[in-house]
Amino acid sequence: MKRVFNFGAGPAMLPTSVMEKARDEFLDYRGLGAGLIEISHRSKEFDAVIDRTDALFRELSGLPDNYRILYVHGGAQMQFSAIPMNLIGLNPAHKAAYVETGNFASIARKEAQRYGNITVAASSESSNFDRIPAFDPASLDADTSYVHITGNNTIFGTRWNQFPDTGKIPLVADMTSELLSRKLDYNQFGAIFAGLQKNLGPAGLAVVLIREDLLGHALPYTPALLDYAVYNKSHSLQNTNNTFAIYMMCLVLEWLKEQGGVDVIEARNEHKAKLIYDAIDSSDFYIGSAQKADRSIMNVTFNLAKPELSDTFLSEANKQGLYALKGHRLVGGIRASIYNAMPVEGCEALVAFMKDFEQRNG
Ligand SMILES: Cc1ncc(COP(=O)(O)O)c(C=O)c1O
Repeated sequence: MKRVFNFGAGPAMLPTSVMEKARDEFLDYRGLGAGLIEISHRSKEFDAVIDRTDALFRELSGLPDNYRILYVHGGAQMQFSAIPMNLIGLNPAHKAAYVETGNFASIARKEAQRYGNITVAASSESSNFDRIPAFDPASLDADTSYVHITGNNTIFGTRWNQFPDTGKIPLVADMTSELLSRKLDYNQFGAIFAGLQKNLGPAGLAVVLIREDLLGHALPYTPALLDYAVYNKSHSLQNTNNTFAIYMMCLVLEWLKEQGGVDVIEARNEHKAKLIYDAIDSSDFYIGSAQKADRSIMNVTFNLAKPELSDTFLSEANKQGLYALKGHRLVGGIRASIYNAMPVEGCEALVAFMKDFEQRNG
């Protein structure tokens, strides 16, 4: 068996030891004689899994006690609907502000427009989202129900280094491509959501972290299975949840704990990103796509100065086991997604390949 270094943006690589553990337990879950995905979501075995996932998440993140952890169907984009349905009613004006830093931020804003009065508080669209735009929270109307940002912009390779202080107005962040890759002060946020498929597990499910006092304000026509208060009351088991995804998340969190936790993984992530950014910055052959001050440590985006060589770069990289480096069509070029599970060796191999490719084609 040969495993490649998988630079795909998501679904993304998971730690090999997690994949092996899931494989080993697949047919016979810890002596039960059945697989976990074959048994009830209300069994004592699954109860233990979801309780452990909660406990590990709290331990690793330092999430304050007044925040709830919910496992919500439909991945990240379903939260683009659920967030306004649950939060826009916090204020009778039904206003929310969105900061547009990329494609997913725009989709979120358009979806929210179905439910209230949405303003674009800041945008970097005019420079093809190569940066985080200046945003002054003082410009917000006091009756704004919430402000939505995208923490890390997967496609464009930018991230918020400092999060805006929105005062009494809850800050909501889509952290799909960065949750648990860096330390956070969760008190800065009213709610955070993330699809699992980058740093946490398989696609199709989102983890939602929400401050308790923001529950219970859903618009009257909100489907029960998008109402965060319903998830909170039922421990995310109002109906049959995706038990496999929660189990995989549990294994990923166990792995993260073994690695030394978020502090250790953040330092490793910074080191990995620096290796690639240094290779870009020390050469005229490669051009970084994002402004330096706003560079992501999860998605490194760059172009070749000779863009006609991009296809050759990608196919040669692929032959060397450097998989899925093609940039998103909105940016072009190359994107190296280097989530928590990407080992340092993967980034070193990419840098060695970049240098060799430049030497042969520069
Ligand atoms: C920042 C961000 N938000 C949302 C999404 C959409 O996630 P999903 O496919 O789970 O709806 C993605 C997927 O890549 C993403 O990177």
